[in-house]
Amino acid sequence: MDETAARRDGILRLFPGPVTVVGVAAGGVLGGLTASWVTRVSMEPPLLMVAIGRQRRTWDLLQESTHFTVSLLGEGQVAEARLFGLKSRRDVDKWAQVAHDLVGPGLPVMRACAASCLCAIEGRFPAGDHDCLVGRVVEVTRGPLDAPLPLCGADYAP
Ligand SMILES: Cc1cc2nc3c(=O)[nH]c(=O)nc-3n(C[C@H](O)[C@H](O)[C@H](O)COP(=O)(O)O)c2cc1C
Repeated sequence: MDETAARRDGILRLFPGPVTVVGVAAGGVLGGLTASWVTRVSMEPPLLMVAIGRQRRTWDLLQESTHFTVSLLGEGQVAEARLFGLKSRRDVDKWAQVAHDLVGPGLPVMRACAASCLCAIEGRFPAGDHDCLVGRVVEVTRGPLDAPLPLCGADYAP
């Protein structure tokens, strides 16, 4: 990366975002990843958008899925963010390592989190090296943890 791109990248990283775990289930496999590129895009109907890199195992599983889940991590859940964000389902069954519940058509959400929701996929479009998926929020659960985990300040280096 040249100096201009590195500076631009550093500035873009200043944008705050949530730390979530996006969950999916397809063909009997539970998958998911840590995602910060997650945002609300409509109140009525309630829509969430997630950006998923096309090289992720989660992206593969989302091709066969009608739904995804979003678990909003709470304060202190850096280990969970690292587990889902630094390891791939190609190598590790990440959901086997955390307490979770299955919602809707068998999708995983974290039991310990600030909030979780089940989304029915309504749209998909490519955006550079990611695909954006827009999901209608069909079920929400308030988790036991309070403040959302902030993106900045934690160490997500491999
Ligand atoms: C804090 C953090 C935020 C991340 N946000 C995203 C994101 O929004 N979208 C994405 O595709 N990957 C994101 N990643 C990277 C994936 O979580 C990571 O590549 C993961 O290992 C992919 O797992 P999978 O191959 O099982 O899908 C993030 C990683 C971290 C640590």
